This record gives sequence, structure tokens and C-alpha cells, in this order.
Amino acid sequence: MINIAVLGYGTVGSGVVEVINTNHKSINKRAGAEINIKYVLDLREFPGDPVQEILVHDYEIIANDPEVDIVVEVMGGIEPAYTFVKRALEAGKSVCTSNKALVAKHGPELMEIAREKDINFLFEASCGGGIPIIRALNSSLTADEIDEITGILNGTTNYMLYKMSTEGSDFNSVLKEAQEKGYAEADPTADVEGYDACRKIAILSSLAYGKFLNYENIYTEGITKITPEDMAYAADLGMSVKLLATSRKVGSDAFYAMVAPFLVGKSSPLYSVNDVFNAVFVHGNVLGDAMFYGSGAGKLPTASAVVADVVDEAKHLHRNIMTNWTSRPLELMDLDEVEGRFFVRVKGATVEQVQDIFGDTQIVNLKQLPGEFAFITSSMKQGEYQAKVEKLNGKVITMIRVKD
Ligand code: HSE
Repeated sequence: MINIAVLGYGTVGSGVVEVINTNHKSINKRAGAEINIKYVLDLREFPGDPVQEILVHDYEIIANDPEVDIVVEVMGGIEPAYTFVKRALEAGKSVCTSNKALVAKHGPELMEIAREKDINFLFEASCGGGIPIIRALNSSLTADEIDEITGILNGTTNYMLYKMSTEGSDFNSVLKEAQEKGYAEADPTADVEGYDACRKIAILSSLAYGKFLNYENIYTEGITKITPEDMAYAADLGMSVKLLATSRKVGSDAFYAMVAPFLVGKSSPLYSVNDVFNAVFVHGNVLGDAMFYGSGAGKLPTASAVVADVVDEAKHLHRNIMTNWTSRPLELMDLDEVEGRFFVRVKGATVEQVQDIFGDTQIVNLKQLPGEFAFITSSMKQGEYQAKVEKLNGKVITMIRVKD
């Protein structure tokens, strides 16, 4: 028997208990032992819920119980999660977590402790909900030099953008729906401002490139400035607006990373990733293109990924299996040097002015928006775009990058 303790009985924690109870026979078979939930830690009481019988309020009980082999951290946030996880690892207990904030901030240190102790710190559910992307990067795509990861990594914002474009829903009501469905973070600012996607691309990039990408160095822009007018332009262009988290290798050893809304055309596999779904596009030098797609948030998809880590840890109780991450820092190049195309809405400018400054551009006029127009630039460095756009003297309403 392998005893586990679940820290946190919120959306994901209750999902973990439900998944283990629903599929216990096949899970035990795959783990090679019976998985027994010995404790659930939460400050609250749950009268009438069978979990009440194994509920504890004091982490010391778990930390000091030598029978607990695996600790499942699904509380979220940095503290007390960090302290609890570190103590568990130091006591020789493997840990799995869905906590992207914890992995992005303390991942290298926690992985190092797990490595020293020959146990595991796994975090499949921290990126892409139920999509098995961490395992793929750690143990499947190992023949490649990966040079791009671009993902739709936040289910809440993808759901919101989809509803805003297809149903014309307003920002606040659609955010409320995402919260009710259990997709959003406790503080949804992390979703709509792009911070959640930022932590996830930092984790995926660290695994893909084998060096630690500090999320604080990633340029991050959320979806709060996206308007129904932007959606109308996107529809007219046959494109969709997606919050993309991307990192790329440029040349032999330069990298950039960013999180921002992008206009995505129909030729991209990311165009049709809608609703709460997430997708991670990966390009490798010998693989070419691959895309991983699935449910990106929500109780059971996330719990499915957490329990898959429990199974892996049960199978490898005394062997460290996370190999592809080092603590060496991944330096990022200046974004001004990064090339791209830009969609720009202007008011009070003329097409001639725009063409004088930007040269060849694609012009878009919408009948329902008189007095303004939009244009898409040719490919240029971001610094070059900034210098040119200043010549429009405050006539720019908004700019959205174009995904090529
Ligand atoms: N708030 C996150 C999202 C949950 O919407 O993607 C899953 O990490």
C-alpha cells in the first residue's frame, strides 16, 4: 500500500479524491500498489462529506507520519505551499503539485532536493491542465533540439475570448462564467493579465531548453484591453484573437519569450483551439511540428494530471525521473530585436501617412467603425515598429501582434 496526503480540498483537491475513488482499480493496477488517501489537509470542515474522516487541520501530522510516501500539493499560492512541499521532500516524501506559481518560483530548488534524495517532485498539472506536456518534454521529445514552444496556456482567457468573439459577451459577465465553472484562479487577475500563462511558459521553456527561465524576465500582456471592435476586425480578417505564451530560440543560442494577445490566422493549428481548451505547439529540429491539445482547466482534467503524477511516483518511489531541468539561467534577448508583423488600429490618420511611414501594408476598413481604419505591417523588428509608430503622433488606438 502507498499512502498519500492531499494538501487542499478545493476544486483540484476534491477532484483528486474523486479521480482516485472513481478509477481506483485501474489506478492501483498501473501504480503496482494500492493508493490509499491517508489524509486530506484543509482548514475548513466538510460535514457530510466522507473526506471528513481523513481530514486534518495540522500539517505536522502529515510531515511527521513516516507512512506517508507521497504528498499531493493542490493548495495553490506560494505560502504555505512552499514550506510544506520543501519539508515533505526533505523528509524523503515524493511530491506532486498543480501549483504553477510554486514551480515557476521555486522549481529548481525543489527539484534539486528531490534529485539529492532520489525521490520525485512532479508537476504535470501545472501547465495545460489535463494535457500530458511535461511528461512529453521530459521523456518523449528527448531526441530533439526544441526551438519553439507556443501555447494557449490559460483556459479562462481562451474561454473568455471565444465567448466574446462568438456570442459578443462582455468581459465581466464571461469572466464570472469562467469563475463559476472553476477555471479561474482565486484572484482572476492572474488569468486576465497573463501572469498565469507567463508562469506556465517559463516552466515549459525551462524543460524544453534545459535552463531555468525566470518568469519575472518574460514580457507579459493580458487581454484586458481587447475590445469588441478588435474582435470585429479579427472576424473580418478571418483571424481569431488568442492569448499566446511563446518562447523561441533565434540563431544558435539566443532566446526570447513573451505572453501577449495575438491575431492568429486559419493556417495556424492554434486558430481553432477554442473554449477552455489549451494547446501547446512545439517545434523541434528533427521532429518538425507537434501539437498537444486538451482540456486546459477545471476540476477533473487537472486532477487527472495530478493523479498521473501520483501513479508515476508510486512506480518510482526511490528513483528520480525528472531529468531535463538545470538551475543555470536562461538569458533572454531584447524584445526590440524580435521580428514580427503588427496589426494597428488608427484614428485621425490617413492611409497615405501610414504608407509613407510603414511602406507596404494591408489596410482594413470596417463600415461599422467610421473615422478609423487598421493596417497590418510587413515583418519588422519590434524596435523598428516602435520608432515608426511614434511618427503617428498618438493616432494609434491599439496594436495586436500577428502570429506567423
Ligand atoms: N486558471 C487556470 C486557467 C487554471 O484558466 O488555465 C489552470 O491552470
